[in-house]
Amino acid sequence: MSVNGFPEHFRFGAATAAIQIEGATDARGPSIWDSFSRVPGTVSDGGTPDVACDHYHRWREDLDLMAELGIATYRFSISWPRVLPGGTGAPSREGIDFYRRLLEGLHERGIRPLATLYHWDLPQALHDRGGWPARDTASRFAEYAALVYEELGDLVDDWITINEPWVVSFLGHGFGTKAPGRTDWAEAIRVAHHVLLAHGLAVDALRELRGDATVGITLDLWPTEPATSSADDEAAARRWDGAHNRWFLDPVLRGAYPDDVVRWYESRVGPFDWVLDGDLEVIGRPIDFLGVNYYSRDVVASAPGAGPLELTRAAPSGPTTGMGWEVAPASLHALLLRLKRDYGDLAISITENGAAYDDPVPTNGLVEDPERLEYLRGHLEAVRRAVADGVDVRSYFTWSLLDNFEWEHGYEKRFGIVYVDYATQRRIPKRSALWYRDFIAANGR
Ligand code: FCB
Repeated sequence: MSVNGFPEHFRFGAATAAIQIEGATDARGPSIWDSFSRVPGTVSDGGTPDVACDHYHRWREDLDLMAELGIATYRFSISWPRVLPGGTGAPSREGIDFYRRLLEGLHERGIRPLATLYHWDLPQALHDRGGWPARDTASRFAEYAALVYEELGDLVDDWITINEPWVVSFLGHGFGTKAPGRTDWAEAIRVAHHVLLAHGLAVDALRELRGDATVGITLDLWPTEPATSSADDEAAARRWDGAHNRWFLDPVLRGAYPDDVVRWYESRVGPFDWVLDGDLEVIGRPIDFLGVNYYSRDVVASAPGAGPLELTRAAPSGPTTGMGWEVAPASLHALLLRLKRDYGDLAISITENGAAYDDPVPTNGLVEDPERLEYLRGHLEAVRRAVADGVDVRSYFTWSLLDNFEWEHGYEKRFGIVYVDYATQRRIPKRSALWYRDFIAANGR
């Protein structure tokens, strides 16, 4: 243990995702986010991924910046349509070479890569052939994964298959707030299954091709509490926890969907005829670590008739971030202990944690963001306490290195520890970035 309680091998990092930063959409195949963002009214400021942070051309500068901040590990995602413009078929040499150069650049600077294979940018061509509601997409994903392992596996030891399957399935196909913007709960449940199957198949492919590498999946986990101690609110909280958290934790870590939620769903959408024999075995293949994205907690109340889960989310009582999410570091500590209690000794990586705030414009080359700094400090402290309590957390990635294309919020929500002036593409570290740099240095890496 080092003086402040983080273990010697602990790594501090920063995270991004391909479509949120790369731009250069003309140098790759189209994805569902390119089309979705062009539908009027879907993205609040009308922003598209076309330019974003122009990272495709400015990656050297971004890597230098990370090195200056002392970032030890970088979580980024590989764009499926950049590697395979049509989703399947002929790979793009230019796309693969971009990631090779990026990875070589990371190694030159001593930064350890953590590569995510899918961060929501499904190739449009595959969507046109049925997308995630079609089981075939899981097999196409496994092929894409195998290609990436073959092309880039010599440069990456740590992999994440899928980022936040909840968002892909239920926000993309149930609530419809994210691409492809569908609103069919039964379809969302089927999509969740196919996305989890894709994960399992990609784990198998990695074991076959790169037996010595490590692999995990990243789940967005939202600890849930009832609004009151009434039996109905408690049942609603259990339902929300079941639908959002256990729906993914249980199949991945125990090889089974949670019974209570299966019963609830089947009584509404009929039997799950899309789950085939052997699927849950594939989905439950052992992984090397669990990626946890943590932002906040939910407080829910029972609301008969309100949506497929018959509940509402209560307004947060404490301070909130620019997303309206409650600042709740204690719930991160409790979540990590719960994972250990309910799922046993897992290696955990906090693959995202951070906050959007209405940052002031830069003055004298600096952006003062005291609230983000306090958010990071509080959550790092929660991680440190969980480690002291025996949870095997190995790394922490702040979301995000740069302000970027925040999905349906366009460029209006800024999560970066580094400010991006989109007019000039100038990067300006915020106070929180300088604080994080000093925090990492104080921890000896
Ligand atoms: C997570 C996403 C990430 C970013 C943050 C704010 O759900 O994985 O891309 O949008 O939220």
